[in-house]
Parts: sequence; structure tokens; C-alpha cells
Amino acid sequence: MIVYLNGRFISKEEATISPDDRGFLFADGVYEVIHSYKGRLFRAEDHLDRMKRSLRELRIKAPDMASFKEISEKLIQDNTLRNGDANVYIQITRGAAFIRKHAFPPEETPLTIYACASPVEPPHEKWEKGSSIILTPDIRWARCDIKSVALLANVMACQQAKENGADEAVFVRDGVITEGSHTNFSAIFDGQLVTAPKSNYILPGVTRKVVLDLCPELGIPVKEFPIFEADLKHADECMLLGTTAEVMPVVQVDGWQVGNGSPGEVTMKLLRAFRELT
Ligand code: PDD
Repeated sequence: MIVYLNGRFISKEEATISPDDRGFLFADGVYEVIHSYKGRLFRAEDHLDRMKRSLRELRIKAPDMASFKEISEKLIQDNTLRNGDANVYIQITRGAAFIRKHAFPPEETPLTIYACASPVEPPHEKWEKGSSIILTPDIRWARCDIKSVALLANVMACQQAKENGADEAVFVRDGVITEGSHTNFSAIFDGQLVTAPKSNYILPGVTRKVVLDLCPELGIPVKEFPIFEADLKHADECMLLGTTAEVMPVVQVDGWQVGNGSPGEVTMKLLRAFRELT
């Protein structure tokens, strides 16, 4: 496997990162995951714009963001991933400083920039049968709009889902559904798609944006409005939105059945329309 590290394309075995790296010591960094469909990057500009914003919010000086398109394409090519689905992962940290101190290292400290590409299987069976979620308290920090590598609350929540036989954990903050551990959340109430408005409590998902743009074309009314946990049982359909899930029907929440227990009509219409764009 060929990866990119600090300006060089090398084999993964050769890629080494300092134990002083602030990504390792403080989770002081950001990341993106971009889907490649048969060698074509999906909404790369949106992902790179979001990464630039994450860096700005953390006061990390952004490198040349446009170069990541070429880097990603080369990784797909060199790892012979042009024929199927793949994910490109990009991570940037504030670099390695000699002494562990919380405040920023000297300005001239080079960033650590890493990227890799790996094959992914589209979740055809889950799309067909639907997925299950659990609800869990949102114990994350108040800047979930930054795609930071500090994902411990997400890791713990996703593991909790797995141990309960579910596919994703969806966070609830003060009685309001925010998003999943690695997806955005949306529900259909009386034919209308409802999803949390953009705020510091959710990641502004690229998939979420594509779906919100598709809705008017498909005649689906949209409301960006908080979904209360207490109202979820009245939802006709639920879905997860994300780079790997695309548009994923949810048929079970905490063991109870959503709608008639099979993937919703509106959800499947959106999944089909989304897949046509890829
Ligand atoms: N996760 N919310 C969270 C917390 C996420 O981590 C993600 C993506 C999303 C969906 O965003 P997008 O549609 O831009 O992928 C929402 C990535 C895929 C991950 O952590 O692997």
C-alpha cells in the first residue's frame, strides 16, 4: 500500500510519525474522508473547503488545499483502486514539537500531513434491509462542526452500538437529536424531510448538503429544524447520511421499529437519486 506522508509517496511500512506528534499527544489535528467512485472523487471541493475551515478554526495554517486532489488521485491510481469504490483519508496535525506543552509549538514547526486510500464495499445489504441505531447521550465538546481527530466520544458511542447489535449510535443533547457517531441524521414526518440545522453541535456533512439539494428536485419538502427525541416515535422514516453510508435507511431505534420496519419510500428515493450522482 502506497501512502502520502509529508510530501512523499512511500509504502505504508516506511511511513513513520514522531511520538512527539501533536496528533498523537493531543489529538491536535483534523481529517477528511472522500469517497472515490471508480476513480472519481465525490465532492472533493466540498470536503477540502470544510478541511480548510476546520484548520482555520483551530488556527492551523492551511497548506495548499488544491494539491490534495492530485495527491488523492495519485493514491487511487498507485493502489489500483480505479475500478471500484474507495475512501481517501487525509489527516493534518499541528506537527511534532520536541517538548510536550499544551500551547501551540513554534510557528515554524512543520505540519504532519498524511493521506491514504483504501477499498470499500458499498453496503448493499444494509441499504436493502435497513440499519439499526441506538440513541446515546451526546457527551462531545461544543465544536462538533470542526472535523477534528479527537473522536473518543464517537468511538465509545459506536462501540456501544456494536455491542448492542446496532449499526450506528446517534447522539442526543438536551433531548434533541444531533447526529450519529460518523453520520448525520434525518427523519421524515408527514412527507417532510427534517434534519438538524447547521450549528456547532453537528458536522456540516457533505452528504447532508447533497441530499438537501436533491430534495427540491424530487419534490420533497425540507425543514432544517431540531428533532426532539420524544418525537422520534412519530417519524415515518429515519435515515443516516454520510460518505460511507450515503443515504442509509434506519428501521430500528433502540430496538423499536420505525414505520413498518422496512426502508422508507422517501429514503429509498433519495438513495437512488444520490447514487445517480456518483
Ligand atoms: N464521518 N457527522 C460526523 C460526526 C461524521 O464523522 C461524519 C463523517 C458525518 C457525515 O459527513 P459527510 O457526509 O461529509 O461524510 C457527520 C466520516 C466519514 C468518518 O469519520 O469516517
